[in-house]
Amino acid sequence: MSNRSIHPDSLKRISDESFVAKIDYHVELSSTNDRALELVEQGNVQSPLLVIAESQTAGRGRGNNQWWSADGALTFSLVLHADHVDLPPERRPQISLTAGLGVCEALAEIMPGHNFSLKWPNDVYLGRKKVCGILVEVPPRDEQHFVVGIGINVNNSFNNAPADLRSTATSLFDEAGEECDRVEILLRVLQRLAEALDLLTNDPGELTKAFSRRCLLSGRTVHLQAGANATIGRCLGIAGDGALLIETDSGLRRAFGGVIARFE
Ligand code: BTN
Repeated sequence: MSNRSIHPDSLKRISDESFVAKIDYHVELSSTNDRALELVEQGNVQSPLLVIAESQTAGRGRGNNQWWSADGALTFSLVLHADHVDLPPERRPQISLTAGLGVCEALAEIMPGHNFSLKWPNDVYLGRKKVCGILVEVPPRDEQHFVVGIGINVNNSFNNAPADLRSTATSLFDEAGEECDRVEILLRVLQRLAEALDLLTNDPGELTKAFSRRCLLSGRTVHLQAGANATIGRCLGIAGDGALLIETDSGLRRAFGGVIARFE
């Protein structure tokens, strides 16, 4: 076992100290989301299930993007059952933003003094660079479960990455200059994620305030690309239903999907 692997005692600690009922641990997987979706498909899930891998050979991002994560990153997927979260269907699209908020709050506690923010719709930024990506998926034949895939750049480094990646992505190690304890981070993320999901179910007003406090894009000029449609305007924050509010020359636009191609 490499000294960077999560020790079996730590896996037990994660079970004991978090809401997860079962852990499916792997040294290597193609993708923790793929594994989680397969387990749901096989009807073989005791949720909340945590699928975690030291490394992924085919990690996936949103759309057709790949998720590149070198040794030292924290990559996992949580399988949750709708009964655990008890959400009205119209709030389900907000799960990914809510998960992002949980990650943001957890990382801010682990590294006080650093600026963690939420980049709508599902990225966590550290300063001006992405530190975590989130991919929420619903298994095609089982809409009662959902898979929340989270990749956090912890002890991997972008110092030797190609310049374009180095200018947009970072890791906790790159910013702090020292390695962080991935088990502590995972436990903290699971706690804050549970709290954020609880707000989504029981106190969406409070959740909206928390989104606004962490919103990276508020007050900035954003370029939103949604299919062939481009919108440019000033971001006014995130609404209670998860929409990004953009003030444009032709009025207020409420965006529910798309990619922020640029922000200034
Ligand atoms: C994105 O930024 O586009 C989302 C990236 C999500 C990456 C995580 S890593 C764990 C889980 N397994 C995957 O294949 N993807 C997600």
